[in-house]
Amino acid sequence: MSIALVILAAGKGARMQSDLPKALHEIASAPMLVHAMVAGDSLGPERCIIVAGHGADAVAAVALNHNPDAEIIIQSEQLGTGHAVEQARATLAGFAGKVIILYGDTPLIQAKTLATLSASISDSAICVLGFEAKDPSRYGRLITDNDNLKYIVEFKDASDDEKLVTLCNSGVMAVQAPLLFELLSEIDNKNATGEYYLTDIVAKAVATGRICKVVRGTETETIGVNSQVELAEAELEFQTLRRNELLEKGITMPAPETVHFAYDTVIGRDTIIEQNVIFGAGVTVETGARIRAFSHLEGAHVSRGCLVGPYARLRTGAELAEDVKIGNFVEIKTSLLAEGAKVNHLSYIGDATIGARANIGAGTVTCNYDGVMKHHTSVGEDAFIGSNTMLVAPVSVGQEAMTASGSVIVRDVPDGDLAIGRAKQENKTWLAVKLMKKLRAIKAAKRK
Ligand code: UD1
Ligand code: CA
Repeated sequence: MSIALVILAAGKGARMQSDLPKALHEIASAPMLVHAMVAGDSLGPERCIIVAGHGADAVAAVALNHNPDAEIIIQSEQLGTGHAVEQARATLAGFAGKVIILYGDTPLIQAKTLATLSASISDSAICVLGFEAKDPSRYGRLITDNDNLKYIVEFKDASDDEKLVTLCNSGVMAVQAPLLFELLSEIDNKNATGEYYLTDIVAKAVATGRICKVVRGTETETIGVNSQVELAEAELEFQTLRRNELLEKGITMPAPETVHFAYDTVIGRDTIIEQNVIFGAGVTVETGARIRAFSHLEGAHVSRGCLVGPYARLRTGAELAEDVKIGNFVEIKTSLLAEGAKVNHLSYIGDATIGARANIGAGTVTCNYDGVMKHHTSVGEDAFIGSNTMLVAPVSVGQEAMTASGSVIVRDVPDGDLAIGRAKQENKTWLAVKLMKKLRAIKAAKRK
């Protein structure tokens, strides 16, 4: 049966105390909305519908960037989760499959839980993802009769007895499509908040003799983010999950609690990640590499056997082939470093191609920006760039060529040549001592 995702992301999230729409707050370098979309993608949905409202343009841009086929629907007034799903009625007219409803503020849902939920709908009208909460606080409560779900009551409308129930609503549910919109026509807003609750469709379905079910997820994966405190808690949960997953896969981390991953970080086995390493989005590290302490990587590809850091920064488009060495206080951006190349100390390499085994001396800078445009630097195989060389791009240094340390290289260096681009040294006999004497005399005269 085909699947349509409906992801609710219209809310402002007043409790976030922020101008950014709630679903765009990030966990592990991706907006919560993207986390929900990624989880939903695992079901292979035919349609992906995003309900946007507050900050709709920004929400739509993020959704379409992740999935250009996503359909954006506007809920101009946020009158509740039921009203939000109602906005998809026209778009889903004629759709006969199942609808999976996800929330833009529930980012940690696991693919296998969604698969179970999606499969369970075959013998029920509605299947809700619930969880046992240690502290159920403000979540809606799932009121069951043995295995069957009878109704959902919101915290604000719950009686004291209902508040004692610890089985909570994650918000995620699966419903057969035509039935969903039939039931939505029946709900009203006569409740504590005056909102149209999606959760009310359960009681409506049960009233007409239909069966509703609960699938249980963990409290961690169903966490709903409504405040900055909860956002930080969800971030910590995500990081803990990912660290454990990677340790299980054979990655060595002596202090995993200090390493931060992005939602899409890929690390190969037998790689060592030292303390306080931060991964932004889009990083792949292959097997047998070592990322030393205090390094920051984003949008980079690190091949087998590379050694990066300590204190290295790999920015977007850093592509390191096998056995490349990047040392302390080195920044690499949009550059390809071929096998065995070394940039060991205090350098900036941007918009460059560095040949195999080339050695880039301490303090080398590719001067890639003229204030308006970026220019390319190319360094050949086995070249040796002397310390403190300024490579003023566009420029190329040939294979096995050298630059003298302190050179400012403004013209291409042919293969095998040595380029010296600095002022010629002169030694003035005993002038240092004479000069010092003179300066001390001046200072003494001033004191009198
Ligand atoms: C909702 C559930 C509650 C559940 C909890 C789980 C209802 C009535 N309540 O409560 O049972 O325990 O989630 O986290 O469904 N949204 C819209 N348009 C609206 C209102 C909300 O798009 O008009 C979106 C929000 O942006 C958010 C999601 O729906 O992504 C949930 O809304 P929120 O107001 O946070 O619901 P809760 O009060 O947390
Ligand atoms: Ca919520």
